[in-house]
Amino acid sequence: MSGRLDKWLSQSLGVSRSTARVLIRGGRVAVDGRPVHQADTRLEPGMQVSCDDQPLTPPQSRSGYWMMHKPLGYLSATYDDHQPTVIDLLPASMHAGIQVAGRLDKDSSGLLLLTTDGAWSHRLRRPGHHRKVYRLWLAEPVDAAMQQAWLRGVELRSDGCARALAVEVLGPCEVRMTIDEGRYHQVRRMCAAAGNHVLALHREEVAGIVLDAELQPGQWRALRAEEIARVDA
Ligand code: URA
Repeated sequence: MSGRLDKWLSQSLGVSRSTARVLIRGGRVAVDGRPVHQADTRLEPGMQVSCDDQPLTPPQSRSGYWMMHKPLGYLSATYDDHQPTVIDLLPASMHAGIQVAGRLDKDSSGLLLLTTDGAWSHRLRRPGHHRKVYRLWLAEPVDAAMQQAWLRGVELRSDGCARALAVEVLGPCEVRMTIDEGRYHQVRRMCAAAGNHVLALHREEVAGIVLDAELQPGQWRALRAEEIARVDA
């Protein structure tokens, strides 16, 4: 264990860095039994941190959970011989055991969840359990018949029927679509099946976890405890 106290605390508790600083300034955090008030206090290996008199576990001994604003052009994979992956955007210290919890295709942007907790990732990906919200920009205008087709369900080639839970028309060629499955290129294929073509696709939300507007493409942050808990057991 080493590094700044506020960063350590935010990772250990799964809270934002600003919440960690509030806890520190409020005198609720102690290092080796002595209250500290400085967010930039340096921690050295072997030091014991507590909050409200409860000893805390070092962040690296727990599972990690992050959200990333996936940029266009990156594969949602841990490794690829030829193309850049989202893992290339993370420091090497985060690579061990990390996996993508629900892929986003190379030409799409937006919310991508990453974790070292295989069971959490598995629960998140179960069809029918967690809603995913996508914003899409289309080549052709959306009419009422197309909207109804998505809501009733469209036939995907050799892959059965796929249905949208909600379709909000935001402009002539712009839509917000909610689905609760994660089949291969599902939204693009649903649009093609309804006679349209996706020009751009951006994921805004998964399981009630909303992409943080502060994150620029390529940036990430640790999930907060309440965000991790949105993925039901
Ligand atoms: N649907 C798609 O077509 N692509 C994605 O990345 C996710 C959903």
